[in-house]
Amino acid sequence: MPDMEDLREAEKFHLDTPQQTPGFFLKGSNGLDWGMKNRLSRIFNPNTGRTVMLAIDHGYFQGPTTGLERIDLDILPLLQHADTLMLTRGILRSLIPPSNTIPIVLRVSGGTSILKELSNEEIAVDIEDSIRLNVCAMAVQVFIGGEYERQSIINMTRMVDLGTRYGIPTLAVTAVGKDMARDARYFRLATRICAELGAHYIKTYYVEKGFETVTASCPVPIVMAGGKKIPELNALTMAYNAVQQGAAGVDMGRNIFQSEAPTAMLQAIKAVVHENETPQKAFDLYMTLKKESSSQNTPEG
Ligand code: R5P
Repeated sequence: MPDMEDLREAEKFHLDTPQQTPGFFLKGSNGLDWGMKNRLSRIFNPNTGRTVMLAIDHGYFQGPTTGLERIDLDILPLLQHADTLMLTRGILRSLIPPSNTIPIVLRVSGGTSILKELSNEEIAVDIEDSIRLNVCAMAVQVFIGGEYERQSIINMTRMVDLGTRYGIPTLAVTAVGKDMARDARYFRLATRICAELGAHYIKTYYVEKGFETVTASCPVPIVMAGGKKIPELNALTMAYNAVQQGAAGVDMGRNIFQSEAPTAMLQAIKAVVHENETPQKAFDLYMTLKKESSSQNTPEG
């Protein structure tokens, strides 16, 4: 019980300073509730408005892909350099120490494998488990134009509704079928549908022509997906172009964990995303860090 005898008269009212009503730093997100904004502020750096998400959720449909065979040995050392970690609950519970405070984006759709039709997904994680795991966002794959397009969209809107109840944002991940054109027109369609139906932010691929029209016509933040492994300088260039053309960061997997020097590559990507470093300078940084780690005989990936 507080001491009631020495109550001092309140006097710090600062009558000449009106209370500020600041907006929120993320595009299209000012109308969200406090919990949502707080979680998004853990994913996106409020100083730069951007994020470097490390995606390691590939195993949920393709098993132990190259670079993710031993997450305990090859991925845990990377976590200190990533802003956010995107993964499944199985890997989170079994391999990520709970003392690690990296913000988690949990993959919550699933149910298919590379051996079957990938778009036939369902919601594969109860919202209660996302709450229990203290995640910062839930990721749902959306297959616009895919065989199970409608089902995947409804998966997403279901998570938006449930997440809104508990203040957890939903990340819509646009998946493109093998036979579909990967162009700005398609990604404008896919990202806009996801945003219109409530996704809080959207992951999509970079396209050389017209990517700025994709980010401009999407009212919420877009993070660039990495895609298959390409040479480091090319991946850094792609990330640079994406953020310069309006992306609020990247969500990369293979171009980091399949690099010859994953820690160095992650740091170089961070320089591009958060410091607007040019691709060539970021590549020089990558080479320097790579050399340093091999001379110290530090395991790199
Ligand atoms: C794929 O379905 C997953 O969402 C991956 O997280 C995503 O493709 C990003 O990984 P990568 O940069 O390797 O494409």
